[in-house]
Amino acid sequence: MSLNKKLIGLATGIMCSLTFVVNAEPIEIKFSHVVAENTPKGQMALKFKELVENNLSGKVTVKVFPSSQLFGDNKVLEAMQLGDVQMAAPALSKFKKYTKKLQIFDLPFLFTDMDSVERFQKGEVGIKLLRSMERKGLVGLGYLHNGMKQLSASSPLKVPSDAKGKKFRIMSSDVLAAQFMAVDAMPVKKPFSEVFTLLQTKAIDGQENTWSNIYSKKFFEVQDYITESNHGVLDYMVVTSKEFWDSLPSDIRGEVSEALAQAIVYGNDIAAKKAQQDKQKIIDSKRSIIINITAEQRQLWVNAMKPVWKKFEKKIGKDYIDAAIAANTVN
Ligand code: SIN
Repeated sequence: MSLNKKLIGLATGIMCSLTFVVNAEPIEIKFSHVVAENTPKGQMALKFKELVENNLSGKVTVKVFPSSQLFGDNKVLEAMQLGDVQMAAPALSKFKKYTKKLQIFDLPFLFTDMDSVERFQKGEVGIKLLRSMERKGLVGLGYLHNGMKQLSASSPLKVPSDAKGKKFRIMSSDVLAAQFMAVDAMPVKKPFSEVFTLLQTKAIDGQENTWSNIYSKKFFEVQDYITESNHGVLDYMVVTSKEFWDSLPSDIRGEVSEALAQAIVYGNDIAAKKAQQDKQKIIDSKRSIIINITAEQRQLWVNAMKPVWKKFEKKIGKDYIDAAIAANTVN
């Protein structure tokens, strides 16, 4: 064998060994979110970590960063595109820079309950929406529930005119801004991590959120009233970057998908339970008065807020809105 051939053989051997060493390094998934660990999303992320690390032992590690410790919702998707974080599950209201279609979930009084939301997400349009950001480099891997939103404030909110002139923190969604403007209130877009302080210092008067977020972030300790309005939904999309997803060997991608599907079922179960339990804990604390509005009062909120649908119909798509209505539970 010539010297050249021997050198080529040696170089190939070294490259193979190097490739092996590189491949032997576990793939790291950083999962960033903004809520506490004792929430549906916090628990889902920890379950996902447990399943991935058990099923893919040594091949993949998952590091979960709760409570905006790594990125807030305003930064996480850019960080994902840059490869600084691999997974996140922002609220569906926080994707407006990447697609306008997901704003459907913010339309007030669109979904009658969480079963309807589940049916819509599992249907043709829901599945299409998971792929609505691929051109922007983001892949939706699944939906996760939190629950229906309630209105909290420093003064009682029974009818829409009670909200007039009041400042409400909202997520970064134009639909949510329009929803509060429809009742002559002032929407203020702020990150989740700032809400408690804004309420405590009375820089804002109120906010909208689920029972589990109101409880776990202690908003009920700094808000005297919570109106059980169930006027909207707060759900999440678990996302990753297309580049990262495509870079995974297909067997690992399959295992990660399966672990996520199981973790979502687990998280959804917690969401359903927490919606009841955390509401009860708030009632028991006696820190906030829960307002149960009458059917007539609720209808006034519907009448005031529902015209928002028409304003966003073109951007979202009437066919999508019709599909959501068709998924609603018929009483
Ligand atoms: C979340 O549940 O992830 C945060 C919701 C919010 O920003 O209000």
